[in-house]
Amino acid sequence: MGQALPKAALRPFLAADTPMLAAIFVAAIEQLTGDDYSEVQQEAWAAVADDEEQFGKRLASELTLIATLQNSPVGFASLKGKDHIDMLYVHPGAAGQGVAAMLCDALEKLAGARGATSLTVDASDNAQPFFAKRGYTAKQRNSVTVNGEWLANTTMQKTLSAGAAPGDRS
Ligand SMILES: CC(C)(COP(=O)(O)OP(=O)(O)OC[C@H]1O[C@@H](n2cnc3c(N)ncnc32)[C@H](O)[C@@H]1OP(=O)(O)O)[C@@H](O)C(=O)NCCC(=O)NCCS
Repeated sequence: MGQALPKAALRPFLAADTPMLAAIFVAAIEQLTGDDYSEVQQEAWAAVADDEEQFGKRLASELTLIATLQNSPVGFASLKGKDHIDMLYVHPGAAGQGVAAMLCDALEKLAGARGATSLTVDASDNAQPFFAKRGYTAKQRNSVTVNGEWLANTTMQKTLSAGAAPGDRS
């Protein structure tokens, strides 16, 4: 007899989560982005979390949500200002179970509650199909330098529905 899969839950970021989120960030890049980025690019990208203090400051300065499975963090997402998704990372062991979708649903609602009418993200090439599926459309192709390496991403945008407006308790 199979058991039901544990259900993911969401909670706000605490400073003490920083090392765990840095580990999720590195594992997601190393194991989920290899079809689209070279090893050198992956290493440069993952090294963004090397300075944990800086990484923690970035998470704390944004509206960061953590997805947990049986109380253990398995993914996180952050909203910068009212209308930009800065980070979205899911541990490879929890990928493909709707964790990113749950995080994104929550950020879209929070952005709406902050008064945003649309939301943008600079989507990595591997995340682009995920965002396209959620109604984000590609606006602009970018090349950015990360720790001395050039990485491509795509600015995508989604118009938020009026249902996410402040005061909506549905
Ligand atoms: C992109 C990422 C966050 C997706 O996380 P996830 O938890 O596996 O995604 P979900 O399970 O919530 O997927 C939701 C839907 O998107 C689809 N999807 C997710 N990743 C996809 C991909 N790479 N290609 C195509 N479809 C994808 C899923 O199949 C699912 O579809 P369904 O609703 O029909 O079942 C994860 O792969 C990741 O951390 N990648 C590396 C880091 C990264 O690039 N982050 C984005 C920075 S902008």
